[in-house]
Amino acid sequence: MNYEEYKKAVEQLNIYSHHYYVLDDAITTDELYDRLYHAVLEYEEKNSDKILKNSPTQRVGDVIRDGFTKASHLSRMWSLEDIFDSEGLKKWLEKTYKLDKNISFYCEPKYDGASLNLIYENGELSQGITRGDGEIGEEITANVKTIRSIPLTIDYKEKIEIRGEVVIFKDEFTKINEERIKKGEAVFANPRNAAAGSLRQLDSGVTASRNLVFLPYGVGENSLEHKLLSEKMEYIYELGFRKPPLHSTCQGFDEIENIYERMSKDRESYAMMLDGMVVKVNEIASQIDMGYTVKNPRWAVAYKFPAVEKVTTLKSIVLQVGRSGVVTPVAIVEPTDIDGVVVERATLHNFDEIERKDIRLNDKVIILRSGDVIPKIIKVLTQERDGTQIAFVRPSSCPVCGSELLDEGVLLKCQNLTCDARVVNSIIYFASKPCLNIDGLGNKIVEALYHSGLVKSVIDLFDLTLEKLLALEGFKEKKSQNLLNSLQNAKGCDYWRFINSLGIEHVGEVASKALSENFGSGFIDATKEQIIAIDGIGEEMAESVLEFVRVNREVILKLQEILKPKEPLAKEEAKENPFKNKTVVLTGSMSRSRDEIKELLESLGAKVSGSVSKKTDFVIYGEDAGSKYEKAMDLGVTCLTEKEMREKISE
Ligand code: IVH
Repeated sequence: MNYEEYKKAVEQLNIYSHHYYVLDDAITTDELYDRLYHAVLEYEEKNSDKILKNSPTQRVGDVIRDGFTKASHLSRMWSLEDIFDSEGLKKWLEKTYKLDKNISFYCEPKYDGASLNLIYENGELSQGITRGDGEIGEEITANVKTIRSIPLTIDYKEKIEIRGEVVIFKDEFTKINEERIKKGEAVFANPRNAAAGSLRQLDSGVTASRNLVFLPYGVGENSLEHKLLSEKMEYIYELGFRKPPLHSTCQGFDEIENIYERMSKDRESYAMMLDGMVVKVNEIASQIDMGYTVKNPRWAVAYKFPAVEKVTTLKSIVLQVGRSGVVTPVAIVEPTDIDGVVVERATLHNFDEIERKDIRLNDKVIILRSGDVIPKIIKVLTQERDGTQIAFVRPSSCPVCGSELLDEGVLLKCQNLTCDARVVNSIIYFASKPCLNIDGLGNKIVEALYHSGLVKSVIDLFDLTLEKLLALEGFKEKKSQNLLNSLQNAKGCDYWRFINSLGIEHVGEVASKALSENFGSGFIDATKEQIIAIDGIGEEMAESVLEFVRVNREVILKLQEILKPKEPLAKEEAKENPFKNKTVVLTGSMSRSRDEIKELLESLGAKVSGSVSKKTDFVIYGEDAGSKYEKAMDLGVTCLTEKEMREKISE
């Protein structure tokens, strides 16, 4: 094979693969494809300096990384406002027509997967980035290159961001889970989790093996000149991306409803999971005029499909004990396929609910699954009872440690601080994302460490050594070393993470940040008065902090000694201004993102709070301001528009 032949072969392979993965229309056999692929591979092995960027060999998943790095999107990735029925659509249309009367709409499916931003430069895929917080995500280019429906090169040279959803088709999902069951691995709860999990693999070979599919739904930064979104999307499909199974331009309420009905009726027959239909204003100029609220474009809306209900049988109720000792009942049901997802568990919330609904073992029940929420039992079919039903008896002792439960009516609690479940879950919580964010310390590993006797408390984590870990079953050198590194990296964490990781009852991320900001390591000596003086912290929380510190002072100090969390920076004293030391609440949408305005106010020494109370000094309101504005008016709090705020600042 010479270079010319090589180029042709690459082109031919890409045509085959485009037909197969994008157009769903195979035009060759596996055998022919493989033969050509190997010829290409052979040429490349001998001519490594001539490998083409778009050669299918460049998709192999052979990259293994230690972690992901962050990357910024060129323009922000937005969310969508949800509507659920015709009434919602009517209201959204009224609002939208008020902004612009002369508009039409582009409707396409709302896919249930993981969003992905692809950046192409000079016609080459340069970066694949997960959505993250919308501004910064994780760079996963090597994994993205293994997805066959994502072209490695496109026939367009300007810089462009192509956005879409990565999904797993329903039949592929079933296959993956069947294999996982065979291997004794935990199954994925739904195709979306499977897609998101497969995308964020450190080993791109795993991603490659999952048959992910990319479905484009829009563009971010771009210099395309189309006047209509529908034209822009047609252009994107022509660049080599997959088309949605159903998409259409239309006008007005009735036409949108028609397309929605059709999509909703046919959804089961689609290969991928849909959870609704997205309606977008088709005219790009109108989109730009309409702009964005803090979270969503005003020119698009997600019209969700109704939840799906199925009848199944309640087989048993298992009891889970959380880190605070609360015992929650979970229903185990006869596995049932609901819109492509096999449901085996449903929430029962609490024991009162079981009694109120008179739920008995062996009952026929209706379960409901909607979008991302855990399925729940909504009704018992009592007329179907056949005498085999058994009433559920409230437990009186902890299913894990056997100690007596405290029955508070709605909640049952295990009071034993050393209960295995409580300790294991506290360690899992300690290591979780909003706490110390320790990679490689998930549920399974914590359980293994705990049951081996090596780790009986969070403090023991920091006595782990390579030698000790290697003595455990399933701990190879790399995994053990990674865990030790992650533990090491947790040292010097932000102070609020340290507070949050303690798992103080009622104290979550927001309160931990507030405590850290106000006291730093002094929080263990703060008085009740000092704590409730913080906006947003009430009596219950303050008492919980004081009680926790009273009982655990030694442990807190010891952990602090080990972790050496960073004291929060003392804020630079702001110059005198009308917002200094004032409590401000923001509501409604403004010309800048909420974060930007918050930052501005904080730099002036204001405290920006989420809720309006008597302690609030100012409410700054934008468009569509809602209940916070009304509450502020009721309480007589000074309300300012964004413009008035800016005028006050420049005074
Ligand atoms: S448009 C500018 N279109 O839904 C508007 N999003 O709830 C940004 N999604 O983060 C999104 N299908 O991950 C859009 N046809 C579709 C979609 C879609 C699925 C996801 C996407 C987004 C989320 C918003």
